[in-house]
Amino acid sequence: MSTPQLTQNKGRQTRVALKVIMAVTGLIFVLFVLFHMYGNLKMLMGQEAFDHYAHFLQEDLLYPILPHKGGVWLMRIGLLIALVLHVWAAISTWKRGIEARGPEQYKVKKGQKKSYIYGRAETMRFGGLFILFFIVFHLFQFTIAKFNVGDLDATVNGDPSPYMLVVSSFQVWWVWLIYLVAMIFLALHVNHGVFSALATLGLERTGREAGFRALSAICALALLVGFMLPPTAILFGLVS
Ligand code: HEM
Repeated sequence: MSTPQLTQNKGRQTRVALKVIMAVTGLIFVLFVLFHMYGNLKMLMGQEAFDHYAHFLQEDLLYPILPHKGGVWLMRIGLLIALVLHVWAAISTWKRGIEARGPEQYKVKKGQKKSYIYGRAETMRFGGLFILFFIVFHLFQFTIAKFNVGDLDATVNGDPSPYMLVVSSFQVWWVWLIYLVAMIFLALHVNHGVFSALATLGLERTGREAGFRALSAICALALLVGFMLPPTAILFGLVS
């Protein structure tokens, strides 16, 4: 027979397990986006350098340990599992919070301002949802459909060129704007998420808090600046 004490303990264990899942999968994503951002900076080195790099990622990642294209599929499956678990854990935590405290907690009390300053749960949820929509749009744009909204030909000598597709796309101001908004949300999400994840995993102890806050902020800023550098250079005609 389960006593209220046992039920409470089980509830706490489930909450901790959900937070650990969110932390681990979130950190996997942060590592991926840091590598992706670094790779995208090759755009600044010209068409040959970037297309060579994109070809390596698509065809030869981890080759010959894995067959051609094996590396990119391993990465895709890993990222998909991480994304599904991350979103599922976030929704479950949110639902459990509402069940535990009741819907009243979301009502703005008299004299209380509803703030959307970064780091708050609402910002994480709203920002997370926006990032999710962005990922779907982004994958359609550059990987699945490879649609070209710009005026340039996205091929070189008849072969598809990821570099030309990116240049053509970011010459369009509203594409640049969508990415800017998405990267701001990503930076806010990472700024709070990395710190939370380190705290959940027990790495944040007295004396380390300031260091971990700085690390989270550096990751967030590096992602915002690093990701937006090539698109901005393209928009202003510095890369073409
Ligand atoms: C300014 C920001 C970004 C730019 C310019 C950019 C650019 C690109 C390009 C050009 C590709 C295709 C590469 C190829 O053909 O090999 C790509 C693929 C991809 N990007 Fe991004 N990206 C950005 C941000 C992001 C962010 C924030 C995420 C995740 C949250 C992301 C996730 C992915 C994924 C999962 C792929 C697919 C890799 C594959 O399965 O082949 N990207 N990106």
